[in-house]
Amino acid sequence: LFKAVPQAPADAIFSILAKYNVDKYYNKTNLTVGAYRDDNGKPWVLPSVKKATEILISNPEANHEYLPMGGLQTFVTAAVKLLLGEDSIAIKEGRAVGVQALSGTGALRLGAEFLKKFYKRTVYISDPTWANHRSIMTDAGLQIASYPYWNAQEKCLDFEGIINTMKEAPNGSIFLLHACAHNPTGVDPNPAQWMKIAEVMKEKDHFPFFDCAYQGFASGDLDKDAYAVRLFVDMGFELICSQSFAKNLGLYGQRTGCITLVTSKKEYSLRCQTQLAKISRAIVSNAPRFGAEIANIVLNTPELTEEWYDNLKTMSSRIIEMRKQLHQYLVELKTPGSWDHIVDQIGMFSYTGLNVKQCRALMSKFHIYLTENGRISMAGLNSKNVKAFAEAIDYVVRN
Ligand code: LMR
Repeated sequence: LFKAVPQAPADAIFSILAKYNVDKYYNKTNLTVGAYRDDNGKPWVLPSVKKATEILISNPEANHEYLPMGGLQTFVTAAVKLLLGEDSIAIKEGRAVGVQALSGTGALRLGAEFLKKFYKRTVYISDPTWANHRSIMTDAGLQIASYPYWNAQEKCLDFEGIINTMKEAPNGSIFLLHACAHNPTGVDPNPAQWMKIAEVMKEKDHFPFFDCAYQGFASGDLDKDAYAVRLFVDMGFELICSQSFAKNLGLYGQRTGCITLVTSKKEYSLRCQTQLAKISRAIVSNAPRFGAEIANIVLNTPELTEEWYDNLKTMSSRIIEMRKQLHQYLVELKTPGSWDHIVDQIGMFSYTGLNVKQCRALMSKFHIYLTENGRISMAGLNSKNVKAFAEAIDYVVRN
């Protein structure tokens, strides 16, 4: 029956992680998947999340009942507010609605399924983008096209390429935009560039579909990282935004997320919310409870929310420090090429500009694992391995 089923292609990120996992070398380095590590290279349970978990499990009323189809409402309300801001006009006017989702991927899938049903247009994804975007959109049945994003020569944003593609795309196309800390490049448009992108999208009637996976994790400032989404809402766009709490709450495996939809009228939004919940019902029935309960406690308990802000600063500042140290070592080693992009980029990842051959050499010679597009998870670097990593880069660049 299934004789003709071909082998699925290897996942660009998880297949390399699998290679790292089976490597027996004592001093191997994991710069593959984007997951925060502390300075000892260990996963970090955020103290605010730990406290919320203790509150949850010590509550005699806590149970494992189903959540409603739209998810845990208090969590969803807090997530939408976190994204759009307390004073968002869309929230005040009841035009912003949310549905709980299985982290960012689940939210993207709900958004894609919703668009396939009610607004079936081509989705433009950035080139490059997070490897899963393409699969999520195409598996949901949407046509995809791409817009250039990375200027490989200058190792910076291809702003002109973005704008030109937006101008050339058929009116009313969907553009998948990274809200902050673009994955894999770590390069975001600056505020003036976001404004121009929004203006062109308005002229062309394009629909923004944001992916917000790093709010607060990127800069340590939740408002700053939500700048682009809020700008589009303030400019009167209707939009969708997927939200992941994997990185900013460290709830990776709990699959805690939300999809927010903003339309021009409260009644449209409320109807769309029922459709999103219906789509979710057919895929997962109800979103998972444990992570959402934890996030709910953190987001709705002022002392824990405050503590969480500090936790975000701890993570983002350690990553920024690693960028500085890596850059400094490369400069000291006089490694050929310019490495300023390492410190200019933001968030979990750095797009090093290393080619496939160099990436493979890092893996085979130095047991340093990274995706073959040259992306490194900055969180995998720490005070003990950053110098050795710089030396390994120096070697592969020169040889
Ligand atoms: C990554 O890009 O490494 C993370 O977002 C994890 C994933 O699911 O790919």
